[in-house]
Amino acid sequence: ITPLILTALIAYLLGSISFGLISARLFGLGNLREVGSGNTGATNVLRTGSKAAALVTLLGDAGKGAVAVLAARALIGEDAAQLAGLFAFIGHCYPWLGRVKGGKGVATFLGVLLAVSLPLGALACLIWLATAAVMRISSLSALVAAVATPLAAFWLRPDAVVLSAVLAAIVLWRHRENIARLLKGQEPRIGS
Ligand code: G3P
Repeated sequence: ITPLILTALIAYLLGSISFGLISARLFGLGNLREVGSGNTGATNVLRTGSKAAALVTLLGDAGKGAVAVLAARALIGEDAAQLAGLFAFIGHCYPWLGRVKGGKGVATFLGVLLAVSLPLGALACLIWLATAAVMRISSLSALVAAVATPLAAFWLRPDAVVLSAVLAAIVLWRHRENIARLLKGQEPRIGS
């Protein structure tokens, strides 16, 4: 087993830890599948009314992506760092061979990007925040940030174009139900 395969495997396992499920347990929030969109991400955790649990979810899901990238970079190098980011993200979206339903990937996407390239990750966060400030819809903010990031990578970090395009494509795919609701004007606003 080569160091890169081992990196991918460990990153996948790390990514498959759901901080939404952990904070639901920790804060006694009940079954997230029966709340709002049924997703385990920070947005849906916020719908339970617990801002602290949503923050733990956001920081945990972003943090695991960042940790995977930073650890792989420190131990092996830049190629391993991007690979670790990719697999941590896949672990979040498609955990444990499908036994647990995965997340939509937004927090982990941002965490991975921040660790791969601070300017690119910071820009993705800013685009999310700016869209959320104007539109007040979490999924739309994620979709705008996901589409913009690979384009921004051409300018800020060309060697991360492929990684950010792959992550963005999966974010879009994971949001297909949100996209359908957005098109029907039925997507709930943050705080509603
Ligand atoms: O982070 C996921 C977000 O973009 C959408 O979440 O619960 O509104 O489907 P949700």
